[in-house]
Order: sequence, then C-alpha cells, then structure tokens
Amino acid sequence: MKKYIRDIQDFPKEGVVFKDITPLLIDPKARKECLEILVSAVKDKKIDKVIGAESRGFFFGMLLAEELNAGFVPVRKPNKLPFDTISASYDLEYGTDSLEIHTDAIQKGDRVLIHDDVLATGGTAKAVCELVEQLGGVIVQCNFLMEITFLNGREKIAGNEIFAAITY
Ligand code: PRP
Ligand code: MG
Repeated sequence: MKKYIRDIQDFPKEGVVFKDITPLLIDPKARKECLEILVSAVKDKKIDKVIGAESRGFFFGMLLAEELNAGFVPVRKPNKLPFDTISASYDLEYGTDSLEIHTDAIQKGDRVLIHDDVLATGGTAKAVCELVEQLGGVIVQCNFLMEITFLNGREKIAGNEIFAAITY
C-alpha cells in the first residue's frame, strides 16, 4: 500500500512531509485492496454508523459505510452542518479548532466506527470520540488509513480499539 502514498516535502509548510493519498484514491485496484483491509478488521462487529471526519475522512468513510451496510455520518468543521449540532474542540499547533455533528446523527447505543485518513497527534480523533460519546454512541473501533506512530496519537484515544492499515 505504501507505494500509493506519496511524500510531499515542505507541504503545507516548510519542514512538514505531507502524506498524499491521491495516488491511492486514483487507482481502483489499490483503493479496493485498502478498503478490504479496513473492512476485514471490523467485519462482523455490527456497525450501525460510520463517521467520516471532514474532509479526508469522507473518502473511505463513505466506502466503508457502503461496504458495512451502515449509515454514514459526516463530522464537519464549524458552521458547515445545517441542522442542530454539538461541537468538540481540539488543539492545533497554534490555537484550537472544533468539529461538529448533527444531534440526530447518532442514537443512544448505536455501534459506531470512526474513520479518518490519518492518525497523527490524535486531536481530531479525540474530538470525534467526544462527539460520539456525548450522543450516547458506542465506539466499536477507530480506523485510519495511516498512523504516524511517533506522534503517539493513539494515547489520546486510549481505551478505544484502534486499527490502521498502514503505519509509519
Ligand atoms: C488532517 C488529517 C486528519 C488529521 C490528523 O486533517 O486528515 O484528519 O489532520 O491529525 P491529528 O491526529 O494531529 O489531529 P486536516 O485537519 O488537515 O483537514 P483535512 O482532512 O480537511 O485536510
Ligand atoms: Mg482530516
């Protein structure tokens, strides 16, 4: 899988090596293989809802929902969702940001799969976990295409089952 992830030096700013997943998205065979890896780790776990974190979590999030015959729920950046929302904030390098979910997106007891493309510092994933917990959902697994292990993001969401298709 790693050959479909492209390193972009100094993006979005100097000193950062960006993991570009667009070569994986563009290749139907590699994309399907990656989807199968993610699905096999959560199959038979009776998922009711898959959450995709805006924006790169939407790509495979929707594919996972389709494959698992589950609902798809977008968690979005502020002021994007039109209905009633709750929000959770998380730390950025400078300052904070927040994510929102519709209040009717998760029913109490729903079995939820949280998906995002990357687990880095874990701030995003932790905020999504908080939203699901606030609405009474049961987090069955958090899955990611990639985990950047040296950033220890999994510590922020410790206690949850975590699966990554690719680790760096
Ligand atoms: C990136 C990435 C993950 C998150 C991981 O999203 O897609 O969602 O950062 O980082 P963390 O574990 O340190 O929170 P970004 O906020 O850049 O937005 P995007 O998905 O819209 O590109
Ligand atoms: Mg993202």
